[in-house]
Amino acid sequence: MSSKLDLSKELLGRRALVTGGSRGIGAAIAQRLLDAGAKVVVSARSRNEETPAGATFVSGDIRTPEGVKAIASGALAALGGLDILVNNAGGSNGFPAGAASIPDEEWQDVFALNLFSSVRLTQAVLPALRESKAAAVVNISSTAATMGAGAGPFAHYSAAKAALDAYSRVLAVDLAPSNIRVNVVTPGPVSTVGSDTLRKTFGDAMGMPAEAWLQAVPLGRWGTTDDVAEVVALLVSERGKWLTGVNYRVDGGMTAR
Ligand SMILES: NC(=O)c1ccc[n+]([C@@H]2O[C@H](COP(=O)([O-])OP(=O)(O)OC[C@H]3O[C@@H](n4cnc5c(N)ncnc54)[C@H](OP(=O)(O)O)[C@@H]3O)[C@@H](O)[C@H]2O)c1
Repeated sequence: MSSKLDLSKELLGRRALVTGGSRGIGAAIAQRLLDAGAKVVVSARSRNEETPAGATFVSGDIRTPEGVKAIASGALAALGGLDILVNNAGGSNGFPAGAASIPDEEWQDVFALNLFSSVRLTQAVLPALRESKAAAVVNISSTAATMGAGAGPFAHYSAAKAALDAYSRVLAVDLAPSNIRVNVVTPGPVSTVGSDTLRKTFGDAMGMPAEAWLQAVPLGRWGTTDDVAEVVALLVSERGKWLTGVNYRVDGGMTAR
């Protein structure tokens, strides 16, 4: 006898915080969790037309300890607890002259946005996650974390995401006895306003058209924000209950190539 899954109710009663949920991949993740019945808070510095209407918006600059505190307390006040944390806020500028040309303050900024944000926020909401019957954390990394060739202009971003991967693996083992699962989702090139602009600006400076990036993707198209959101939804749901410490690459085969 086959049983049918009702994905529209899968996350009913679950409470989720998605950082960087005002647009792009974070907005798609937030919308996917809302569609599955979760109550969702999204955080960013400001909301815009992409921000899911069904989510509660909390503002804060996630690069600073004060910003993280504001996001954590705003989310916990709105939700009354927390079951799902998606550390998605991230990104960086590119430096066409390569790794050695990246200024110190950019290294600090990129580590604050892509690594310390997740470390600090996870610590801030950990007491609430420990109260949850089935808590799940998903950290959003990047294929840049494991790239060498071609990654020089993003060396700081690559290093911060690689550190996030390592931190997530360790955290998964540490928190497993509390039944808090921690996984990583690693997108390849996904079309968002932020990344499209970066690839265009960077491509113009390097004389490399945006389409050239596609040659590295065996499935031959940009990823969509929904491609990433779907895997996050699986990981935080009951279907993912025996998954922890894993890194899921959603990259159209880019890493395999
Ligand atoms: N798109 C891709 O091709 C791709 C590929 C690999 C990995 N990723 C990763 O996927 C995640 C999302 O990428 P995306 O392309 O969707 O990015 P995006 O469109 O630029 O959106 C970034 C989100 O993070 C928020 N954010 C940025 N700086 C912040 C700050 N200082 N404080 C608080 N919130 C901040 C932004 O809102 P505000 O600006 O209003 O604060 C926005 O909601 C990132 O971690 C990125 O590294 C993306």
